[in-house]
Amino acid sequence: MTLSIKSKLFQEIVDGLQANPASISPKFFYDELGSSLFQAITHLEEYYPTRVERGIMDSKLAEITEAIAAVDVIVELGAGNCEKVRPLLDTVAPKQYRALDISVDFLEVALADLHHDYPAIDMQAIAADITQELSFPDLQDRRILFFYPGSSIGNFNPPEAFRLFLNLARECHGSGGLLIGVDLVKDIHILERAYNDTLGVTAAFNLNVLRHLNHLIGSNFSIPDWEHYAFFNQTLDRIEMHLRAKSDLLVSWPSGARMFHAGEMIHTENSYKYSKPTFLEMLQKAGFAQVTAWTDPESNFLVCFAGFK
Ligand code: AVI
Repeated sequence: MTLSIKSKLFQEIVDGLQANPASISPKFFYDELGSSLFQAITHLEEYYPTRVERGIMDSKLAEITEAIAAVDVIVELGAGNCEKVRPLLDTVAPKQYRALDISVDFLEVALADLHHDYPAIDMQAIAADITQELSFPDLQDRRILFFYPGSSIGNFNPPEAFRLFLNLARECHGSGGLLIGVDLVKDIHILERAYNDTLGVTAAFNLNVLRHLNHLIGSNFSIPDWEHYAFFNQTLDRIEMHLRAKSDLLVSWPSGARMFHAGEMIHTENSYKYSKPTFLEMLQKAGFAQVTAWTDPESNFLVCFAGFK
């Protein structure tokens, strides 16, 4: 990491800690341990999105493949363990696969495994912060399929999500498209259970961000001083995750410090849940003229292919 990126990250983190209310961007969840904890979450019975999305992908794969048609390259955003793309590599058979993730060490291990199984596909792991503008000048004349599964789009607020769609539609240059999974609004108990699992894996995932921050900025967060708090905000249609101070605490880092009072919270993540019409309209407004959507029988989750006529 260059010095300027390091000092930018340092400033971003410190600004969040000094804000009122304090916040930490969810992108800082994903150090090596955080990525593994997220993988563990996806195996939990309470955390339905991964399982339901996989069910849709498996049962509708032929239709999804037909909608996508021919593409040269699959660019996966937030690729993580690179497992979700496997069925598409089989059926769409691109020449190239490019995996983007903020946690590149974890990504490289996953990509090596994948490449072993698909040696004919050219593969590349790229460290990328997808909250920033994306540009692929070397892919200008290729048909790109952007693949963004897992409802990670829910971790953006709606205007940021729309900006990402505009960015991706532009990078498609009128061909290819975006295959994206999104979690839908549903019964509040199902939603809150998914972020408050009985094993405490989500709590560990949330608390681990403090460990990561200690490493990144040299802060002195003590994990036992904080507790996980997650609830569904029905006004904004989003799960909110916070870390709550168990007592009055002074947290410091080189060049600064902040007092947190007992009960004060640090906002760590939003996970927006959409209705199908709202989500399809956002994709269309961003420039994707043709949107096809698939859901599970209970309408818990939505998979969309947004392309061009
Ligand atoms: C990565 N993202 C889609 C997950 C979500 O559901 O918002 C992250 C997560 N946070 C808590 N559990 C899972």
